[in-house]
Amino acid sequence: MVEIALPKNSRVQKGVVHKADKKLEKPRTLKIYRWDPEDPANPRMDTYEIDAADCGPMLLDALIKIKNEIDPTLTFRRSCREGICGSCAMNIDGQNTLACTKGLDETKGKITVRPLPHMPVIKDLVPDLTNLYAQYQSIEPWLKTDTPQPQSEWKQSREDREKLDGLYECILCACCSTSCPSYWWNSDKYLGPAVLLQAYRWLIDSRDEATGERLDDLEDPFRVYRCHTIMNCAKACPKGLSPAKAISEIKKMMVTREV
Ligand code: SF4
Ligand code: SF4
Ligand code: FES
Repeated sequence: MVEIALPKNSRVQKGVVHKADKKLEKPRTLKIYRWDPEDPANPRMDTYEIDAADCGPMLLDALIKIKNEIDPTLTFRRSCREGICGSCAMNIDGQNTLACTKGLDETKGKITVRPLPHMPVIKDLVPDLTNLYAQYQSIEPWLKTDTPQPQSEWKQSREDREKLDGLYECILCACCSTSCPSYWWNSDKYLGPAVLLQAYRWLIDSRDEATGERLDDLEDPFRVYRCHTIMNCAKACPKGLSPAKAISEIKKMMVTREV
């Protein structure tokens, strides 16, 4: 996992301290970023004390406990609770990761929780992913073919299917893109690691018949070539994938393709 040096933001206020009103068996303290579009006193860092002895084992369990028992206004995304939907991605103690797969016992002392870095915030821990999804849509992430559709299924050899390993597992959580300095500064033009890994997933799919068209679409000084192989993306991915490798494969395809 990558350590993100978050800039010290002097605008961040101290926030509200929610102290426990009884002695806790296994006390843990969470400092959580709060931002409410309707509150002029923000952003702020609120502090919550919880009893880990009376809580599920994951960071997401702690957030759910806080929302249910202490502060119902705390806002965050989650769905599957098992590392599959990608919606609970956030920055925990300086690392982008999934709250539902991050164990409370993997953290020490006060736990600091912030939204994914360098994204506009909708509320609290919920980043606005509109741009990322528009970029994802722009790579046309579906099978494109000219051949008439077969009656049963598009067949693929075992070897060709294996080429999708390390790509199909991506859950589009955006931990990689929001840890990529090139994406921080050029997210309007550079597609970023998450979307480029997805682009490569379709480029390498033996059943797809639009490889040339897909490469043409990526041929641009910004869409791919803003990747400077800094590798933060691979360190940040909670699924152990390497977007940087996928990006270098795209670059290879671009230079070796027959025109
Ligand atoms: S390798 Fe490329 S995509 Fe990954 S963090 Fe570095 S610049 Fe970003
Ligand atoms: S490559 Fe990894 S970090 Fe990036 S979006 Fe996919 S699962 Fe998330
Ligand atoms: S809630 Fe689905 S990945 Fe965490």
